[in-house]
Amino acid sequence: MKKILLFASGSGSNVRTILQNFYEQPGVSFPAIITNNKHAGVIEIARAAGLDVMVVNKENFYSEVFIDVIDMMNPDLLVLAGFLWKVPDYLVQTYQGKIINIHPALLPKFGGKGMYGHHVHEAVIAAGETESGITIHLVNEHYDEGTILLQKKVDVLDSDTPETLAKKVLKLEHEWYSKVIATLLNS
Ligand code: GAR
Repeated sequence: MKKILLFASGSGSNVRTILQNFYEQPGVSFPAIITNNKHAGVIEIARAAGLDVMVVNKENFYSEVFIDVIDMMNPDLLVLAGFLWKVPDYLVQTYQGKIINIHPALLPKFGGKGMYGHHVHEAVIAAGETESGITIHLVNEHYDEGTILLQKKVDVLDSDTPETLAKKVLKLEHEWYSKVIATLLNS
């Protein structure tokens, strides 16, 4: 059984899509969804899917004792899907090459601390970019700097707003994140 541990902070549309895509797949399970936000929409999605939800506070997440909680679940892959806290070094070091993130722009542009969700799309439009997209990458000790596994592009039109761009990018995220996860699980 391959175990995927999901981390999310927001509405959870990526989590929903991943759960749908792997729902009928034998040999894959989701021991828990970890969130830092007790009001996150993802909690309802997880509960509706019958999954355990763990709400963590900063003190626990950044304390090395949390590793015991993660180790107990024995995950094969840690998947960040709109998770906004920086992954602590102890977790990165213990699960080298097994933590992945999705970012709603073409890294290394428009990444780093504070670059999440609508901030990213606003920055892309303000910079006059003609293309944006998604980046799926391994997580290392630095925000948005791990090895890139996949990038896909969308055009940014003059008529695009941060909202319309976000929609196009999210569509790509839903299309590709599960495929990368499946590839990693099978490698
Ligand atoms: C997604 O667009 C994801 O790429 C982004 O948050 C959104 C979460 O949406 N992540 C980041 O910006 C990380 N820096 P969701 O909650 O609907 O899946």
